[in-house]
Formats: sequence, structure tokens, C-alpha cells
Amino acid sequence: MKILAPSILSADFSALGADVSRIEKAGADMIHIDVMDGHFVPNLSYGAVAAESLAGKTALPFDIHLMIENADRYIPGFITENTRFITVHQEACVHLDRTVKLIRSLGVKAGVALNPATSLSTLDYMPDDVEMVLIMSVNPGFGGQQFINASMAKIAALAEIRERRGLSFHIEVDGGVCLENAGALAEAGADVFVSGASFFKAPDMKQWIEDFHKVTKGA
Ligand code: DX5
Ligand code: ZN
Repeated sequence: MKILAPSILSADFSALGADVSRIEKAGADMIHIDVMDGHFVPNLSYGAVAAESLAGKTALPFDIHLMIENADRYIPGFITENTRFITVHQEACVHLDRTVKLIRSLGVKAGVALNPATSLSTLDYMPDDVEMVLIMSVNPGFGGQQFINASMAKIAALAEIRERRGLSFHIEVDGGVCLENAGALAEAGADVFVSGASFFKAPDMKQWIEDFHKVTKGA
């Protein structure tokens, strides 16, 4: 079964706890928490307080996506009892290897994210113990954008690299993911799916998740 991590960027912030409970009851696997700094991406969202305040209130693990500069300074603040992954951007981390080691030293899994225009070759010297590679399928900064089609081939190429190198990291796709493209993304090799706008717009979240598992099954 593929892993679904709804992005709370599309949640109702006046009722965040209630939205997280709805997501959990509907059958999601993780909560995707998008952190934006207004420097690396042209938008601000929220900081560690979002993770801190939700920790312990849900059994779902947190998938923290840091779209920020100076990640090392802020990473420790995102460690909570729920934190499972912390993902940083290749483009925003000058000492990426050091940052990955920092994340792992704090007892959580490390992910590396690539923007749509960033080549997979930037991962050539990636440490073998990175647990997830996140392929951005929109330019990061906003929810509700349109899926960039070139991401499909990029995911397939990444899956090939993973096989060739004998590695087992997760391939996460983030941006414009919906029921119409999830099947093809699973075929291409994605196994962790973030969805914001499409998921939150669904009249019935539970049904959306059932349909998601249907279209991604067998890939
Ligand atoms: C974009 C974020 C995504 C995004 C996903 O900067 O990293 O997680 O909010 O939302 P949708 O599915 O609406 O593109
Ligand atoms: Zn994200």
C-alpha cells in the first residue's frame, strides 16, 4: 500500500486540531507539515509551533518538509514524539551531508527534496542512508498549483537510480497530486504521496483515500 500524507497547508487553521482528527479518521498515514521561510520560497507558513502543538494529539507520524534556509538552526525544534521524517531542500543546504547527519543524529529519518528544475545528478554523492527523496512536482511555496508533467519521468529515473545503487529510500511526490495522476505516479515509482488541495476539496475524505488506494494499487 502506498503512503498518503495530506498537507495541512490546505487545512482550516482556525480548527487545525479538528482537521487533523478528520484526516486521521479518514485513514491517512502521515501528516505533511510544510514549513516556509519567505526566503527560500516566496511565502511564509508556520514554524515548529505547528508540530509542537499537534504532537501527542494524533497517532499519525509527522512528515516535516522544510522549505527554509539555515535548516540546521531550526531542525531540533521539529523533533516531537510524532516526528518521523524531516526533509530539507538540496538547493537550500550548502552542507547537505552535514544536515542529513544532524537529522539522523536526532533519531528521525532524513529526506532530501529537489525542486522541479534541479537535476537528479545532485544526488550522485548523497549519503546512502538518506531515507527519502522528495520530488517536487510544483515550484514550492504554495498549495493548489498545477502538477508539472516532467516530474513523472524524473520519478521514473530516480526509481532506476535507486535500483541501480541497491538502495531503498522512499520516493515522495509533492505538488498537484490528485486522483487523476496518482496511479501513473505510483507506476513511475512514487510510494509516498502528499496531497493538499485535491484532498481537502474532497467532499468525503474517506472516499478520496479509498479511491487513492484503488488507483495506486498494484503499481
Ligand atoms: C508546496 C508544498 C506542498 C503543497 C501540496 O510548496 O510543499 O506540500 O502544499 O499541496 P497541493 O497538493 O495543493 O499542491
Ligand atoms: Zn510539502
